[in-house]
Amino acid sequence: MCGIVGFTGKKQAAGVLLGGLEKLEYRGYDSAGLAVQGQGGKVQVVKAEGRLGALLSKTDGGNTVEGQCGIAHTRWATHGEPSERNAHPHYSNDKAVVAVHNGIIENYLALRAELEEKGYVFYSQTDTEVAVKLIDYFFKQCGEPLVALSEFMRRARGSYAIAALFEGFPEEVFAARKDSPLLVGIADGECFLASDAPAILAYTRKVYYIGNGEMARLKKGSAEFFDAAGKRIEKASVVLEWSAASAERAGFAHFMLKEIHEQPQAVADTLASFVREGKIDLSGAGLFEETLRRISSLVIVGCGSAYHVGVVAQYAIESIARVPVRVELASEFRYRVPILQENELVLVISQSGETADSLAAVREARARGAKTLAIVNVVGSSIAREAENVIYTLAGPEIAVATTKAYSTQLVAIYALGVALGRARGELGDTEYARLVAELCALPEKISATLRDTESARQVATGLSGAKDAFFIGRGVDFAACLEGSLKMKEISYMHSEAYAAGELKHGTISLVEEGMPVVGVLTQAAVLEKTLSNMSEVKSRGAKLVAITWFSEGEIEKIADFVLHIPKTDERFAASLAVVPLQLMAYYVSVARGLDVDKPRNLAKSVTVE
Ligand code: AGP
Repeated sequence: MCGIVGFTGKKQAAGVLLGGLEKLEYRGYDSAGLAVQGQGGKVQVVKAEGRLGALLSKTDGGNTVEGQCGIAHTRWATHGEPSERNAHPHYSNDKAVVAVHNGIIENYLALRAELEEKGYVFYSQTDTEVAVKLIDYFFKQCGEPLVALSEFMRRARGSYAIAALFEGFPEEVFAARKDSPLLVGIADGECFLASDAPAILAYTRKVYYIGNGEMARLKKGSAEFFDAAGKRIEKASVVLEWSAASAERAGFAHFMLKEIHEQPQAVADTLASFVREGKIDLSGAGLFEETLRRISSLVIVGCGSAYHVGVVAQYAIESIARVPVRVELASEFRYRVPILQENELVLVISQSGETADSLAAVREARARGAKTLAIVNVVGSSIAREAENVIYTLAGPEIAVATTKAYSTQLVAIYALGVALGRARGELGDTEYARLVAELCALPEKISATLRDTESARQVATGLSGAKDAFFIGRGVDFAACLEGSLKMKEISYMHSEAYAAGELKHGTISLVEEGMPVVGVLTQAAVLEKTLSNMSEVKSRGAKLVAITWFSEGEIEKIADFVLHIPKTDERFAASLAVVPLQLMAYYVSVARGLDVDKPRNLAKSVTVE
């Protein structure tokens, strides 16, 4: 996600701002910029696409940008391609208001239309420029930055951390925050603002966290805090004990654990981009009701975890929309001269949008005249650009090699596609449609609830960390979740494991079960609960150590399993979104118990851009 730095003090601002951005590079970005108030309060804005080096060379390391008060930003694109034009800071046409933003303004299109009617013109595709011009609109009316920010907060929906400079308020930085983090640091005669502690640890460890719905006014050496109505509030400071490295992970031991905990927000942000007033709207991806109705079948293509999302989608979408779905590994699809039917939609799923096999699959499908749709997490990536249409997941940058939050956001994207397809094909009446959409929107809170007990998963993981092999078994969507759980375990703990459709064990692999071998059973599908339970009994009688992940409270499960990890209940087709959380945590804690490099496992890259 984007990074924000602000400063007002005795030093030249550019050095503090650019140094702060360097400390936030780990967050992932595609462009950067800064704005500094120079002589007489005149604001100089410099932006550059690409790495920070481009901005440093444009400003001769900051030397060409003079002034002691400014703001800076690294952008992770969510609305609008990565480009200098879309880079922050954004500003009103007379530069009376200049600001940077981290988050997503969900109603930016409606606000943009309102502002255009008031005569505002826009130079970028971003939600941030809309935010800045809305603030400017109010500022022009009242002349008060805090009132303008308060009015903005009343109108804007979504998440935002905003840092802004206002004409007529030299040497002051203003901030407003909802959901996206912002903190203030104070040192002698200086004041710092940042989206994350690493940016300012070099100057101070005494920080104030701006709360949700709050604003701040930074002056040289002091800061004032206000509620959304502009009422002054007192705030206690916090002294940060983190090392710079651990601060990059917001205090989490590893990026993977941080990203596991970011899943509720990532899923909520992704859902908010296509669920409005209780309805699913995929028109942004070219999927209008008529288009959806014409889709006769789906071919879903991906690699690794993205492929596992496709396996969930096959069960979920066939069940909800009653349309045939097949799933293929991209590395196979691209070479097997696939047969594609008339009106068949080829859906390519990819976090990075750069996986070579998945990109080749898009090209293969297009070469055969098929309609292509991508589900991608990186705006402007190759797959996003080459597929005819794209649904963006809003997971933000994923730093750990092992995907977690991107996987979870891809899941809700395919659920939404399945529900929209089912609605368009007349498979879902009003009540069932409303129930499914409501269940989708309840997932972020249910993922949060699952994350409230990480200790049980840690204890189970520690207990099985010495094992050589493990099995993950389930049926239907539970089997699909097991595929992801097994891959997580293999890729970060190096423990050999296999995921099996539970009914398949007796066809050969049960011969591998030995005394003490961990077998993880995922049990959420009522129709096959008894069947899976008997599979678990079969492996138990051969010495397996059984872990059950379930939302059922059948005594039978407690009797058979050595450990039971409970998850909240949701619609069975969405079960993988909750079952995957303890599976991710178990893999994480086994890797930690084994003292391995969780975020950068051996031999693996975050994006496999070569064959
Ligand atoms: C998952 O944890 C792995 N990092 C890997 O399987 C990954 O899902 C796969 O390489 C696909 O990457 P993509 O989603 O960026 O295309």
